[in-house]
Amino acid sequence: MPSDNSALEEIKSKLDIVEVISEYIPLKRAGQNWRGLCPFHAEKTPSFMVSPSKQIYHCFGCGTGGDIFTFLLKYENLSFQEALNILAEKAGVTLKKFQKNTAKTGEKESILNLHKDALIFYQNSLVKNQKAVRYLADRGINSKAQKLFFVGCAADSWDALFSYLQNKGYKAEEIKKSGLIVRGTKNYYDVFRNRIIFPIFNMRGEVIAFGGRVMDNSMPKYLNSPETPIFNKSRTLYGLSHAKESIKKTGTAVLVEGYLDVITAHMYGFSNTVAPLGTALTQEHGKLIKRFTQEVILVFDGDSAGINAAKNGIGVLVEVGLNIRVLPLPDGEDPDSYLRKKGKEAFSDLLEKAVSIVDFFVMHAGRNLQQQENEHLIAREALEVIAMIPDSVLQGHHVRLLSERLRINEHFIREELLKIRKSLRHNKVNAKPSEIQTRLQPTEEVYLLQLLLQCPEKAGEIFNSLSAVDVKGAVTRAIYEKMKTGLVNYNTLLQECNDEEKAFLTELSFKTEFEDPEKILKDCLNRFKSKKQNILLRELQDKIKRAESEKDGASLRALLLEKQRLLKSQ
Ligand code: GTP
Ligand code: MN
Repeated sequence: MPSDNSALEEIKSKLDIVEVISEYIPLKRAGQNWRGLCPFHAEKTPSFMVSPSKQIYHCFGCGTGGDIFTFLLKYENLSFQEALNILAEKAGVTLKKFQKNTAKTGEKESILNLHKDALIFYQNSLVKNQKAVRYLADRGINSKAQKLFFVGCAADSWDALFSYLQNKGYKAEEIKKSGLIVRGTKNYYDVFRNRIIFPIFNMRGEVIAFGGRVMDNSMPKYLNSPETPIFNKSRTLYGLSHAKESIKKTGTAVLVEGYLDVITAHMYGFSNTVAPLGTALTQEHGKLIKRFTQEVILVFDGDSAGINAAKNGIGVLVEVGLNIRVLPLPDGEDPDSYLRKKGKEAFSDLLEKAVSIVDFFVMHAGRNLQQQENEHLIAREALEVIAMIPDSVLQGHHVRLLSERLRINEHFIREELLKIRKSLRHNKVNAKPSEIQTRLQPTEEVYLLQLLLQCPEKAGEIFNSLSAVDVKGAVTRAIYEKMKTGLVNYNTLLQECNDEEKAFLTELSFKTEFEDPEKILKDCLNRFKSKKQNILLRELQDKIKRAESEKDGASLRALLLEKQRLLKSQ
């Protein structure tokens, strides 16, 4: 966190949170505030609120909240410093030099720069490598597609990249952190050797990793960069930076399995195509797509491995609130091979015919079983996925469809669904909570903080009559302590808070203001006082009991006197 808050204040005063957030998600006016679908959890009815008067947002569904910095930092997965740089630029505020470089962004930035240099090196190596050029031609990747995806090649050498980067001034340690070299018994050597290189980009189009494919049948067929400070496989989709505009425009994302499927799909005009990086689909993947659309067509190989992968993928994607349609390709085909054999029109027709998840399960579950057993199995498999659909209307639609397809009374289907949901909830209870949940109870502690924010002029009075130890909740106390150091201005306070405290404060700020703050304040302070006295009284009572059992007459008399005094003051 920068020590100087004035830059933050200046940036905030020049930007409007409604405008900033509107660039990422659509917002609609709702009274004094603005409302939209929360980008941080799956939901179908908007509970994400933005307040222009307080310049904060809060989601009443998942309980997260903050200001423009928090938003950008979470939405784009940035560090505070990166968010600061972006917003400063937007606001036209020049940051002082020291504000620009903290150690952490320094590291990320240098890894990003290194990747840029590596990308250029791999691209230049391609021109000189006849084998690679021929391989790409054989696979039908034309030069336009090669340029679009910055395809390159790693020469058949142990250290071509390593020495190139060293000559550019990078230290071995830095290159190693980027995951592009590993240490052997004596020397470092390049991770990618004798491979076609597919650079991997983040959503903003920065190169963050590489994938490399062999040019023959040797193993492993593909190699990816390891996880680094800038690369996380389960949060990256190949092709997304190229595809995002088209996904927005067409309203649909096409999800395929491999690098070459993406490249070929884009070549044939299906520029809304993306793929995971050889890993199973994750909720993070789903959330990435959900920033641009809710409609996904999942394309996969029609063999049994492909079908199983699709089943798992469907469950994960449905859970984040995406609508999935499924497109199984003929056995043994992938989008790349299919497009090349049958062409654009045929693939387009297939996409049109993508089926609902219910039909997918009806088509692909337990094909060899007896009729009755089979239906039961289909119902269960489908319901396990349907149970994860967060939107109840959509869930109901799937239940009806399933009942129609299997000709089983909807009532039985619903009963089964209920059972599955119960067991899911049971599992959820044991799972670790992934999001902060604050549900503000109307206690005096909550009221007090609300009062302080609404009427900062009362701060002195409140601070004099209430010490922080008397505030018992961990979050409320932490905030109260911060306020006591003089931070009663909403925005500066927020800057000093952790995520949980932020969520608390932003939720608080959406509460309607007290009509009679004087009265609330009096009631509040009285309740604190009587609570404190009750605690003292209980402690005293314990001591009295002990003195009685120990037959300690002198202490007993003193304690009883104290108790009388305490009761009188109440
Ligand atoms: P081509 O055979 O070149 O057409 O590639 P493909 O994408 O069709 O390959 P495949 O269907 O076998 O694999 C799909 C995706 O899984 C690939 O694009 C890779 O991301 C990943 N993958 C495949 N093989 C490997 C491997 O050996 N190692 C790793 N890490 N990933 C792999
Ligand atoms: Mn393939």
